[in-house]
Amino acid sequence: MSLLVAVTWEAEPWVERFTRHLPGREIVVLGEDFDRSAIRYVATWGLKPGSLDNLPNLEAIFSLGAGVDHLMTYPNLPPVPIVRVAQDDLTHRMSEYIVMHSLIHLRDHARFVEDQRHKRWNPDRSPPMAADVRVGIMGFGVLGQDAGRKLKMMGFDVAAWSRTPKSVEGFTIYSGDSGLDTFLARTDILVVLMPLTPDTRGILNRSLFGKLARDGRLGGPILINASRGGLQVEADILSSLDDGTLKAATLDVFETEPLPEDSPLWTHPRVTVTPHNSAVSEPEATARYIAEQIRRHEAGEPFQNVVDRARGY
Ligand code: NDP
Ligand code: OXD
Repeated sequence: MSLLVAVTWEAEPWVERFTRHLPGREIVVLGEDFDRSAIRYVATWGLKPGSLDNLPNLEAIFSLGAGVDHLMTYPNLPPVPIVRVAQDDLTHRMSEYIVMHSLIHLRDHARFVEDQRHKRWNPDRSPPMAADVRVGIMGFGVLGQDAGRKLKMMGFDVAAWSRTPKSVEGFTIYSGDSGLDTFLARTDILVVLMPLTPDTRGILNRSLFGKLARDGRLGGPILINASRGGLQVEADILSSLDDGTLKAATLDVFETEPLPEDSPLWTHPRVTVTPHNSAVSEPEATARYIAEQIRRHEAGEPFQNVVDRARGY
C-alpha cells in the first residue's frame, strides 16, 4: 500500500516519520511520479484542487490538523472517511496556550511588560483571583474540554457552549442559539475553540461581543480565539476594543493568514498576535497517531475521530 503525503509545508519531515511508523509501506509525495492506483491513504494539509482525482483505491483521508475546513471546501472530495487529528500532543499544546493567555489577562501582565519598558516600579495593583473570573469556552469538544479542565485546576470559574446539549461533570454547558446569550452574559474571558463551518463563520462579531459580561473583575471582556480566523470579524474586534466593548484580545488565527503587514491588529496596544501556532501538529506524534489509525482499520477496527461531513467538523 502507499500513503500519499500532500502538504504545503516541507514534506521531508513527514516522509521520514511515516517511513519509520509504517515500516515496509511506500510513502510518496504529491508532485513526484507515483502509481495512483497504489494509493490507499492520503495525509494532507493544504490540498490543491485536483490532487485527489484518480485515486481509485483510496480508503481514507487523514487531515494533518484537528480542523478540516480546508477539506470541506475541496471540490469533489472522494467519498472515503476523513480522519482528523485528535491526540494528546496537540491537545496539550492548545491547553498550554489557553491557560497561559488566560493567566496573562488575569494578572494584567501587559501592564507589567509596559512598566518594565519604562523602568516603573508599580506594585500597587491587586489582581482578582482566578476564582473571581468567569471563563466561557465556545466549542467544548476535544480541545475545549481539556483546556476547560486545566483552567478549572487554576481556579477559574469555567462554563462552556456547544452546538448540541451535553453533560460533562463539573461544567455548566449551554448549547444552541437558546443557550448562547445566557452563556455570554456570564463570561469575562471568551475562549473560542470551535470549527469553521457555515454556522460559525463570522460569529465573533460586534453583536456577540456586546452580550459579554460587563460586571466582571477584569475591567471588560476579553477574547481569546485559537480556532479559525473565519469565525472573527476583525473590523468588529477593532471597533469593540476602541469603544471598550472588549478590553483586550489574544488572536492566534486571522481572516487572512499570514496576517497582512498593514493589519492594525499587529500594533494595537491591547491585541496579542500569535502566528497560528497555538497547537501545531508535531510530525512525530501525528505520524504515530495516523499509523495507529491505519493499524486499526486494517485490523477491522473503526477509525477514530472521523469527520461528519454533514456537520462539517
Ligand atoms: P471538536 O470537533 O472536538 O469540538 C468542536 C466543538 O465545537 C464541539 O463542542 C461542537 O459542538 C462545537 N461546535 C461546532 N459547531 C458549533 C456551532 N455551530 N455552535 C456551537 N458549537 C459548535 O474539535 P476540536 O476541539 O478538536 O478542535 C476545535 C477547532 O480548533 C478545530 O476545528 C480547529 O479549527 C481549531 N484548531 C486550531 C489550532 C490552532 O493552531 N490554532 C490547532 C488545532 C485546532 P458539539 O459538541 O455539540 O458537537
Ligand atoms: C489544526 C491547526 O487545525 O493547526 O490542527 O490549525
